[in-house]
Amino acid sequence: MAKIFTILNNKGGTGKTTTVLNLGTVLAKMDKRVLLVDLDSQCNLTSALGLWGVEDTICDLFLGKCSITQAVKQNGKINLLPASDKLLETEFLINSEPGREYILKEKLEKILDEYDYILIDCPPSLGTLSINSLVAADYFIVPMQAENFAFIGLDRIMSVSEKVQKRMNPSLRLAGILFVKLAPRTKFSQAVITNLTSNEHFKDKLFSTYIRQDIALMESGAFKQSVFEYAPKSRGSEDYMDFANELIKKYDKK
Ligand SMILES: Nc1ncnc2c1ncn2[C@@H]1O[C@H](COP(=O)(O)OP(=O)(O)OP(=O)(O)O)[C@@H](O)[C@H]1O
Ligand SMILES: [Mg+2]
Repeated sequence: MAKIFTILNNKGGTGKTTTVLNLGTVLAKMDKRVLLVDLDSQCNLTSALGLWGVEDTICDLFLGKCSITQAVKQNGKINLLPASDKLLETEFLINSEPGREYILKEKLEKILDEYDYILIDCPPSLGTLSINSLVAADYFIVPMQAENFAFIGLDRIMSVSEKVQKRMNPSLRLAGILFVKLAPRTKFSQAVITNLTSNEHFKDKLFSTYIRQDIALMESGAFKQSVFEYAPKSRGSEDYMDFANELIKKYDKK
């Protein structure tokens, strides 16, 4: 049965889409059955997988206009629930539905046996769509840059996720905080990491893998490819491979 991870941070540009795309790609390369879910109206993940403009997207799924089987699309070994530019409108429409926070969970339940890992790419907000992802997920991963302001965001994410856990999804857990775009040798990065590791709440919650700053990751995104296709020998591919191994070691047998 699939384990569901939502990748979320309400701050923009913290590597959510890059993480979902590259972690998903490497898990699929390891012969895991992978479904990615695009919950962002920017549709960056859908575009990166060449599925922009297809019919029957996650918007139709949320509105009950298609089945999950119709909505899931394929790109090689990766399956995707694609987004479309109607997603903002869709979020507005479902906001008046009773039980709106449970829609994604209800849809994914039908296909849990078909996958090993489901990874959800969230928008940079904590609105109805991100809450849907937290209700559906077993775990959440917070990708974060080593910078001061990130902490303020982290408090908000933790308080929202605690409410979701208490009221809607008791089994929700923080899988960990993933540092991305890290320049590990700079004094500033070291200071931010030390600060976080000395915090009671988070000291055991950092993944040991860091995703280093890598131009190949930035370029591969611009060329709408995973870093494994674009630059297989880059730091980016090495780091996402390590991250996949860390996750598998911890969660494959759970
Ligand atoms: N490790 C990295 N090194 C260098 N650039 C990176 C790295 N990770 C991501 N980027 C670049 O940073 C930018 C933001 O990344 P990404 O789109 O994954 O963030 P996001 O959290 O999904 O953004 P949004 O909140 O807008 O959805 C992109 O241009 C991406 O290519
Ligand atoms: Mg994104």
